Amino acid sequence: MMSSRPPQSLQLDANGRLKHFLTTEGLDKTLLTEILDTAESFMEEDGQVVKKAPLLQGCTIANLFFEASTRTRTTFELAAKRLSADVLNININTSSTSKGETLLDMLRNLEAMGSDMFVVRHADSGAANFIAERVTPQVAVINAGDGRHAHPTQAMLDLYTIRKHKGPFEPLTVAIVGDILHSRVARSLLHGLKTLGVGEIRLIGPRTLVPAHFQELGAKIYYRFENGLKDVDVVIMLRLQKERMDSALLPSEDEFYRLYGLTREKLAFAHPNAIVMHPGPINRGVEIESEVADGNRSVILNQVTYGIAVRMAVLSMAAHTRLNTLTARQPSRLEF
Ligand code: CP
Repeated sequence: MMSSRPPQSLQLDANGRLKHFLTTEGLDKTLLTEILDTAESFMEEDGQVVKKAPLLQGCTIANLFFEASTRTRTTFELAAKRLSADVLNININTSSTSKGETLLDMLRNLEAMGSDMFVVRHADSGAANFIAERVTPQVAVINAGDGRHAHPTQAMLDLYTIRKHKGPFEPLTVAIVGDILHSRVARSLLHGLKTLGVGEIRLIGPRTLVPAHFQELGAKIYYRFENGLKDVDVVIMLRLQKERMDSALLPSEDEFYRLYGLTREKLAFAHPNAIVMHPGPINRGVEIESEVADGNRSVILNQVTYGIAVRMAVLSMAAHTRLNTLTARQPSRLEF
């Protein structure tokens, strides 16, 4: 389902504002920083996310998750509700797609009901681009993860977490560990880390899961976990994406855990103040030890909380772009 058009011409309007959010690739530092700063404006001093804001009153957001999700789907729903939008959670399994209705026909029907935004997760890389190319001009599309391609809001909440806990990006060394090959999170995060000027990016994992061409994105590759972890400020563990592995890329999960599982002993190679992150869902005893996942260096659950604020930021920015476009075309019509 890969799209033919380059995403930048799709996701930005003529003034460089976020119209759809499909990928972090190609977005500049100013725009990524604007997303982080807007997310910060949705955080309260006590570390909780703002409970209610009227910014998207009258806006209808449809969540279309063709692939399983806990964190992304629910935090998008919470984000939309906290911005006062109306939310449609489409259950794909009980929708009329099971009777043969095409994806595009379903979208046309949701547009006819007045949907303003589609939040889309799909197993096919390029699905969000495909939809963004075909929706009516007043509808925004937000990619909630497409195949191995991109998971831009996850990357933004990871970047938010790093900035919140470790300060400016430039002096930091950040390691991403595990199944880089199949990870849309790693791809989106790499673009974001590079654009925001992180000092050093390391990718750690077995040769089968860390392709050498990732060096072209400005990362250093390590096949020995202990070497790669040395003095890092941020350790981001990834899940083994077994559902995307079409051949035996690993001897066994036990062997993977022995070599690349994050245990308390291995974490000792990182900087003493290093934080531990994971996008979830975590596989305890496969990529991370419970003692580390639940320990005082872990910010894994903070990431989930920040995800609400980051998704509020993305939804409100895309809605604002849409509002500007509509009022430019129809000055007499009030939207939202
Ligand atoms: N991190 C993430 O995308 O989690 P979910 O699959 O639960 O949404």
